[in-house]
Amino acid sequence: MKKLLGIGAVAVLGLILVVTWLLPGAFSAKGKPPEWEVTMARFARHLATPSQWRDAKNPVEASAENLEEALHHFADHCASCHANDGSGKTEMGPNFYPPVPDLRTEPIQSMSDGELFYVIHFGVRFTGMPAWGSGDPEKDMGSWALVHFIRHLPNITPEEISQMKELNPKTAQERAEQEAMDAFLAGEDFVPPSEHHH
Ligand code: HEC
Repeated sequence: MKKLLGIGAVAVLGLILVVTWLLPGAFSAKGKPPEWEVTMARFARHLATPSQWRDAKNPVEASAENLEEALHHFADHCASCHANDGSGKTEMGPNFYPPVPDLRTEPIQSMSDGELFYVIHFGVRFTGMPAWGSGDPEKDMGSWALVHFIRHLPNITPEEISQMKELNPKTAQERAEQEAMDAFLAGEDFVPPSEHHH
């Protein structure tokens, strides 16, 4: 009986410790995981990627046309978090837990093509990285083209960045302003809404 009480007391103390000391903030996305955790998680995920994916060869050719298509795709679907240049310097990027990595750096560029595809296709659980795989083989080819584009990111040109800015998703207001401006420039007698004063 005494022993049981003893165990009970320790359990209650342990619970209080967890609730008051460890738990507060445990689900906050503020801050950054420590370096050792990032390294361990990266290694665990390397091991957890099935070898048929890890060693898969990119079936898409790194042609100018496929890279162009991937540039469009990245500007439209990925840049909101990863930025057009892959740096991750966006409004949301640094505020994920873990934060969006710089796709141009060694830890990412040293991943195999298959591992990069796997991340795009299946996402990364417990992070903000969504799974984009849809079961549509044509879209899968798009993801393989994105792998080529990620390899290209360290050498992206200022011209490509400005091209991507045009392709980034726009808010309704940005679209309306753009349309009004286009109409205005096309010579239609139309004042852009932002310059309307009545
Ligand atoms: C909603 C935000 C968001 C969007 C949109 C997004 N990502 Fe990510 N991505 C993340 C986050 C957060 C991580 C970090 C995950 C981690 O640390 O494991 C990440 C990580 C990655 C990584 C690195 C994986 C690793 O091992 O660290 C690659 C490659 C990647 N994303 C590619 C893409 C591509 C390509 C797209 C577009 C099809 C995309 N992402 C769209 C949030 C996003």
